[in-house]
Amino acid sequence: MTRSFRCPALFLLTTLSCLLFFHLIFTPLSSETHLSISPVSSFTTPLTNPEKTSNSTPSKHVASLDEVLTSSMYRRIRSKVDGTKEKTSLERIEEDLAKARASILRAIQFENYTSEKVQSFVPRGSIYKNPYAFHQLSFTSHLEMMKRFKMWSYEEGEQPLVHFGPMNDIYGIEGHFIDEIEREGSPFRATHPDEAHMFFLPFSVANIVHYVYLPITKKQDYHRDRLQQITRDYIGVVAHKYPYWNRSKGADHFMASCHDWAPEISAGQSKLFKNFIRVLCNANTSEGFQPKRDVPLPEIFVPSGKLGPPNLGQAPNNRRILAFFAGRVHGPIRPILLEHWKDKDDEIQVHEKLPKGMNYTALMGQSKFCLCPSGFEVASPRVVEAFYAGCVPVLINDNYTLPFSDVLDWSQFSIQIPVAKIQEIKTILQAIPNEEYQKMQRRVLKVRRHFVLNKPAKPFDVIHMVLHSVWLRRLNFKLGT
Ligand SMILES: *[C@@H]1O[C@H](CO)[C@@H](O)[C@H](O)[C@H]1NC(C)=O
Ligand SMILES: *[C@@H]1O[C@H](CO)[C@@H](O)[C@H](O)[C@H]1NC(C)=O
Ligand SMILES: *[C@@H]1O[C@H](CO)[C@@H](O)[C@H](O)[C@H]1NC(C)=O
Ligand SMILES: *[C@@H]1O[C@H](CO)[C@@H](O)[C@H](O)[C@H]1NC(C)=O
Ligand SMILES: *[C@@H]1O[C@H](CO)[C@@H](O)[C@H](O)[C@H]1NC(C)=O
Repeated sequence: MTRSFRCPALFLLTTLSCLLFFHLIFTPLSSETHLSISPVSSFTTPLTNPEKTSNSTPSKHVASLDEVLTSSMYRRIRSKVDGTKEKTSLERIEEDLAKARASILRAIQFENYTSEKVQSFVPRGSIYKNPYAFHQLSFTSHLEMMKRFKMWSYEEGEQPLVHFGPMNDIYGIEGHFIDEIEREGSPFRATHPDEAHMFFLPFSVANIVHYVYLPITKKQDYHRDRLQQITRDYIGVVAHKYPYWNRSKGADHFMASCHDWAPEISAGQSKLFKNFIRVLCNANTSEGFQPKRDVPLPEIFVPSGKLGPPNLGQAPNNRRILAFFAGRVHGPIRPILLEHWKDKDDEIQVHEKLPKGMNYTALMGQSKFCLCPSGFEVASPRVVEAFYAGCVPVLINDNYTLPFSDVLDWSQFSIQIPVAKIQEIKTILQAIPNEEYQKMQRRVLKVRRHFVLNKPAKPFDVIHMVLHSVWLRRLNFKLGT
């Protein structure tokens, strides 16, 4: 890669593509709350009205924080009351974020931030959006994240509804995510909430549904009001006890869940959840998922006691099945798939229940393409299973925001087929030249690292990629100090 810009036209082109890129990434979700990054210098605009968010009544804070916060926080607020000009924690946080933004912009402009020698992995190639500017940004912002990003997970609440989530099965990533953020020794753990760029609400929607709702015997048992009450109460407790929620109106707070119901925590509470970031598997834009503010979470089937199957699958030339699906029929899309393709064609293997003696994982590894239709929710663990099996995923869904789509160019390693074209699956897939297929398959093997679950998490794996999405969103706004 070139190290400097001697050609002014190239420099101009690069700068323009960076601006465009920033415009795409940092376009405001709502002009009131999220600032625009075009022009780039507007990074300095406060998110919220400073009059409303400043520590308006420090003496009141001292009184209410006295019992709950450590003495360091207490001293800082005291010194403010005493009139000394010590920086507030929020000022320090914002200064830190400003440094990260400046590094990222510098790296894009001068392309000299990185020292590849010390890094084992540099994201590069067509799977990344805007291969020139983007990998530079994603890499630099990953490094900045590793260097600076700190989160505070609220300690309030008891297991199993809070601080604990499912570790296995299709919601497994929910528990692993909570566990990773709260783990002793996590590089992202703030030692004090004053140091935190983001605040995590560690409740588990999957566990709330499991422990509070089951058994479900009648229709009213499905009502989401208990779920909404629990999350509202939790926010009420931490907003009352600490200054952080009120200071940002929730903008630097987030939760994570893989459960189908999770988007509904904010239903009917749009004011409370206006700025709050939701990390969701169910990234259905028709159910209120907001791609610029919320973060899609990949759904991963986690086998009991394991983090996932090893990377399996045949070489591209040994894949004898054109397309494969096996799974239960639920949600609006699968019945259409089954109707058109179940037991109809040897090359398009669509099973409702896999016949005895057939091996699901092995079949995925023998297929060129793996069909991933939405079920009850838009996300399907099949996408990640396809990556693990080296199989090119065929996404059949509507209004699904794909994970890491602000970093990854999904068109390079997956096929999207609209629901309306399900009967054309075979024609569409057969029309893909073998050479093109081979390229896509190689990119699948490359993108796989971003969907692997590790314990503890590792740079560029699925947990770090999710945190990076959260970090990008935090870089997108500035809180009034
Ligand atoms: C990158 O290059 C710019 C301009 O030449 C220079 O100001 C900056 O210090 C360099 N940064 C690093 C990290 O080398
Ligand atoms: C935050 O605002 C709520 C509602 O206005 C209030 O009840 C709560 O006491 C405030 N929290 C703090 C720490 O002042
Ligand atoms: C299914 O196939 C995979 C991959 O070939 C293999 O690792 C696994 O042991 C098989 N499972 C069974 C139950 O045979
Ligand atoms: C996405 O949300 C819409 C609106 O609630 C719903 O009709 C649709 O079925 C959802 N999609 C899936 C696959 O669940
Ligand atoms: C997807 O979103 C579009 C635009 O918001 C909407 O018109 C369409 O009905 C949605 N489709 C589904 C299946 O929800």
